Amino acid sequence: MSTKDSILELLERHRGENISGERIAGILSVSRNAVWKSIKELQKDGYDIVAVTNKGYCLSDENDIISVPGIKPFLSEACRPCAEKIRIYRSLESTNKTAKEMAVSGAEHGTVIISDCQTGGKGRYARKFFSPSGGLYMSIILRPEAIRFSNPTAVTAFAAVSVCESIECVFRKTPEIKWVNDIFIGGKKVCGILTEAVTDFESGCLEWVVIGIGINVRIRTEDFPPELRGSAASLCPDKKIPGARNRLSAEIINRILGLKAPPDEAAILEKYKNRLMILGKPVTVIQSSEEFRATVAGIDSAAHLIVKKENGETVSLTSGEIRI
Ligand code: BTN
Repeated sequence: MSTKDSILELLERHRGENISGERIAGILSVSRNAVWKSIKELQKDGYDIVAVTNKGYCLSDENDIISVPGIKPFLSEACRPCAEKIRIYRSLESTNKTAKEMAVSGAEHGTVIISDCQTGGKGRYARKFFSPSGGLYMSIILRPEAIRFSNPTAVTAFAAVSVCESIECVFRKTPEIKWVNDIFIGGKKVCGILTEAVTDFESGCLEWVVIGIGINVRIRTEDFPPELRGSAASLCPDKKIPGARNRLSAEIINRILGLKAPPDEAAILEKYKNRLMILGKPVTVIQSSEEFRATVAGIDSAAHLIVKKENGETVSLTSGEIRI
């Protein structure tokens, strides 16, 4: 790691505190001049580092730049090596698009792509996903030789539960899941997940999976386009939580890449079910060619939604959407 990155990691670990140039130089075994030069470079990169005479340097709480040194202090011991495979961009068309290209070129299990904003963020059914700066846009490449799920829907359920728990841990809010993979707080969508995969045509086996996660972290209500204002919300639109996006990224990585193989799918599905906001409620099911009213009865062992139609018939849904 470069001196600049090591200094940034140290400042992130001591966010809000003053650390003297001498102390930094001592910890990292570099000269005070090297510390000074790196701090200047970090400030030029946009880091809000306050220098106070006789006190030292302090990374301001306002600073919300996503970086590997900012994520690292929040990675669990087991996931610390994952830092090597995190790639961060200021702007991408779509982190899923980049991740898929990387997966095709052989990127390893655990490669993580994060962007501060997306110019062509993609949602389910080829819809656009609103992706300005202030959100967290992240795609994680999984390879089945490292972690194998019994079916693709179980991966989506696992991703949704992992994101809910991560949000709860950082923001102390209780997210709910709207089948299949939308995450809601207070009746508004705060996160969408798009899982994409490629299967080997001959063997029928999954080659790789990309889990794409888009979270509205601190996008202000007035900055959402009018058509989303009534249905979407941010986790902390006004209040600043120091390093929120770095912490959230790390918590998601800890849960998704820290999962022990083989995954306990029954336990994951139980957690998924407990967060379903539609259990026992009447909904409209939208499938490619039809729409019908039904009541949600539960989730089966393959993570399919079980609904009871108005005519009493029970059906298991593998795909589609619901409207509450
Ligand atoms: C949905 O709500 O329909 C799913 C939205 C998924 C958005 C995320 S943002 C990161 C990744 N890159 C994309 O282009 N899409 C996913």
